[in-house]
Amino acid sequence: MIIQPQIQGVVARNCHPYGCQAAVKDHIKTVRALVQSNALAAKESTPKRVLILGASSGFGLASRIALMFGPAAASTIGVSFERGPSEKGVGSAGWYNNVFVKEEADASGLTTSNIIGDAFSEDVRQRVTDTIHRQFGGKVDMVVYSLATGVRPDPKTGEFWRSAIKPIGKTVSGYSIDLEKQSLSLMTLPPATEQEMDETIKVMGGEDWLHWMSFLSENALLAEGCSTVSYSYIGPEHTHDIYHDGTLGKAKIDLHQTRAAINTLLTPLNGHADVAVCKALVTKASVFIPGLTPYLLVLYKAMKAQGLHEQCIEQMVRLFYQKWPNTDDRDEDGLIRVDDWELSDEVQHAVNDILPLLNPDNFRELGDFDGLYQEFLQLNGFGFDDVDYQTEISLDALKALRP
Ligand code: NAI
Repeated sequence: MIIQPQIQGVVARNCHPYGCQAAVKDHIKTVRALVQSNALAAKESTPKRVLILGASSGFGLASRIALMFGPAAASTIGVSFERGPSEKGVGSAGWYNNVFVKEEADASGLTTSNIIGDAFSEDVRQRVTDTIHRQFGGKVDMVVYSLATGVRPDPKTGEFWRSAIKPIGKTVSGYSIDLEKQSLSLMTLPPATEQEMDETIKVMGGEDWLHWMSFLSENALLAEGCSTVSYSYIGPEHTHDIYHDGTLGKAKIDLHQTRAAINTLLTPLNGHADVAVCKALVTKASVFIPGLTPYLLVLYKAMKAQGLHEQCIEQMVRLFYQKWPNTDDRDEDGLIRVDDWELSDEVQHAVNDILPLLNPDNFRELGDFDGLYQEFLQLNGFGFDDVDYQTEISLDALKALRP
């Protein structure tokens, strides 16, 4: 078969396996180049045995690659929810990211394993426990919590909580991008109901992070000095209606507050919990946030013009080798700010000048549509110059690839 991108709205319906391989290789190359050019080294505290929940794409994948292929040379266990190839389809990009991270690790003498399944299930907790014993000798130095999902089962009833990305207390209108039609259109979001707000906090707040850390602690799987990090977003004023002051923002505030309970859990081990506030970027999850894409278009343009644009991988190299775990480098709420360049006055002035002018006729010129679209394609293995997209791919060959 020949695989061409199938995009529906803001969702990629397929991926290109060998393009995903190119993406993984590119990320590794980026890590190695950044480490070399900035003379970055592993600190004594840089974790060696890392469990990553949400390891197959976006910030979790970038954390994994930065920690494995950077000076930490960490051994990792990656948990993700992905689909392999079958008669129904080629499978998901995250599946192939897992396959090729493992292949690159083997080639570099590094150790990693993939656990593919629902991170909210007992079965996955058990498989993680077994793998920590087998691969890490029974203890983890760091847990990266980078799950992004729209649903989470209630552990007591098995019924699903569903997140709703909506404003709170008001209706918000604004442009949203359609990547399939390559157009910008107006949309209006009604305020969230009380139930939508509560369920979004259940799905994207801190509760499951705490459950995971409690589970690992109760089973004596956390090493002395163990740390954990989860990711958040705050953004500038003009994104607040839809993000920071909306349901997602409430969930993130809950996540920030959960640090206190996790810190209490980790105190006997001299460990600590962090939240790193990251830059707005195109990922599988973020293109779903209605109203955020016009800001992304203008942000990309401004940051590229100022030589400050980063993707997840650059963000995670800066996080683990420059910021973390330096306790001086936190804001007044104790958050690590990797969104510092995004929120700099220079970048935000440039954004503020352009964003009000953006409309369906000029978004390609005023915003970095081509750059954003290219990043979206590459998340799914398309748009790489060094991949021959006309080469026939056999399903049997894909089925033989093991994550
Ligand atoms: P993503 O969609 O690229 O990755 C999500 C990961 O979670 C994937 O590995 C997926 O397989 C895994 N996952 C989802 N449901 C699962 C389940 N039930 N069981 C096991 N694994 C599951 O998401 P992204 O954007 O990297 O988000 C990660 C975190 O970073 C989120 O907390 C998000 O809010 C935060 N963040 C994202 C920003 C952005 O602009 N994309 C900015 C700042 C923070």
